[in-house]
Amino acid sequence: MAEIVTGRAPSAAELELWRRAREVAARAYARYSGLHVGAALRSPEGAVYLGVNVENASYPAGLCAERSALAAAVTAGERRFAALAVATEQNDPLLPCGACLQALGEFGELDVVVVPPDGVAGGTGAGEPRVVALSELLRAPFRSPRDLP
Ligand code: THU
Repeated sequence: MAEIVTGRAPSAAELELWRRAREVAARAYARYSGLHVGAALRSPEGAVYLGVNVENASYPAGLCAERSALAAAVTAGERRFAALAVATEQNDPLLPCGACLQALGEFGELDVVVVPPDGVAGGTGAGEPRVVALSELLRAPFRSPRDLP
């Protein structure tokens, strides 16, 4: 099957980041969907910030794991990111949602370590993580017209 975005195999460090995302997924508050998601965001200096999804009885008030990790990192003073890993406890194939890609893209390019669905970025359906550039997943982010030169 033709892939809609290309991915590559993770380095040892990227695989370790993905394991941390999978591990922290156990702390997700996901009583409505049952999907426990963890995220790990690494700065260029190697600091790692974790996040989980935090659901709510008012469904739209829920927060994704990726933006949860981003909030933790920015709170700690970070502005630059090298890699983001996302995982569920059961290695489900998934990609960050559009809102999370937009939120992360605010801070520039980064590598996304994730188990892609079949036919995406080399996803094999075997629960193996792959690495994809954020700019491939979100080709045309929103930019404020006030920021244009
Ligand atoms: N979710 C994430 O936390 N990250 C993703 O990449 C996909 C979706 C959460 C949102 C919601 O709590 C649950 O997964 C089901 O959509």
